[in-house]
Amino acid sequence: MMVAAIGAAWLLLLVLVCASAPPPPAMSSDRALVDLGAALSAEPALSGNGTQSCASCHQGARAFTDGRPTALGSTGEANTLNTASLVNAGELPALGWARPDLTSLEAQIAVPLFGTHPVELGAGGH
Ligand code: HEC
Repeated sequence: MMVAAIGAAWLLLLVLVCASAPPPPAMSSDRALVDLGAALSAEPALSGNGTQSCASCHQGARAFTDGRPTALGSTGEANTLNTASLVNAGELPALGWARPDLTSLEAQIAVPLFGTHPVELGAGGH
């Protein structure tokens, strides 16, 4: 169950890479897709300066958090928030600590990739 939920989260990255592909299923137990998602989540080229990946903050060994009181972005900017766990994230009605507007993983992924207040991956403009 948890593997399927995490797989769904990382499928978002596949959607970004293959924009013309049909939308992924909400949940997937396809091993190849789960493996692809895991590889993409650990890819530092997703950050503007090549220093961080999703997995820098969402660490599998820490229930997909980072063990820090507040997250630290790729440029060294401190986030004001704790890294939220990704366990069952694909089943949550809203994502983030206080973002009722983020109701899909497709919408949420723009925050870590392109957000500037604070910077997480800082991929905007790259
Ligand atoms: C710099 C650390 C950092 C990086 C890198 C990062 N995140 Fe996060 N993530 C956070 C923080 C902090 C939150 C909570 C944000 C909020 O509440 O607005 C979060 C929240 C989330 C959530 C919502 C989880 C929930 O339980 O509501 C998802 C999904 C997520 N991140 C996916 C990703 C993906 C996919 C990537 C890579 C493209 C990524 N994150 C990269 C720190 C990070």
